[in-house]
Amino acid sequence: MKLRIVAIAAALSTLAAAPASAGDAAPDVAAGKGVFARCAICHDATKNGPNKIGPNLFGVVGRKAGTHAGFNYSAAMKNSGITWTADKLDVYLTHPAQVVPGTKMAFAGISNKTQRANLIAYLGTLK
Ligand code: HEC
Repeated sequence: MKLRIVAIAAALSTLAAAPASAGDAAPDVAAGKGVFARCAICHDATKNGPNKIGPNLFGVVGRKAGTHAGFNYSAAMKNSGITWTADKLDVYLTHPAQVVPGTKMAFAGISNKTQRANLIAYLGTLK
């Protein structure tokens, strides 16, 4: 009887632990802002901010690729047919030149999945 109680208690504590570990995997917006430092040499991301070497990224999540006013995109980006959902950004930012062959974004990509998730969560706050 005592053993059974221990077993139940162990099962319950496993259940209780599950949401906590899911929380660990939740994106960290502040860390994502830190990752954006790697983009900021080429991208401004403030509202009504300028285009730099790359287009302004304020509101990029949900935007159609190649459509930010006043930026001279490559034909590859303009014709990519992409809409920047979080999923599309995730694959693009892993290896930009493979997802949009001929893009003029000279950036190798971010291999770390957590860093990408944090960065995309940060971009999602810019609206
Ligand atoms: C060396 C400069 C450079 C760096 C660094 C860079 N980009 Fe870019 N980015 C560009 C250029 C240039 C374009 C336009 C590409 C084209 O027209 O083919 C672009 C385009 C984009 C687009 C498409 C935007 C649109 O309006 O369709 C996204 C999204 C993007 N960059 C995100 C990022 C993120 C996030 C980072 C950091 C991880 C980053 N870029 C780093 C230069 C850069």
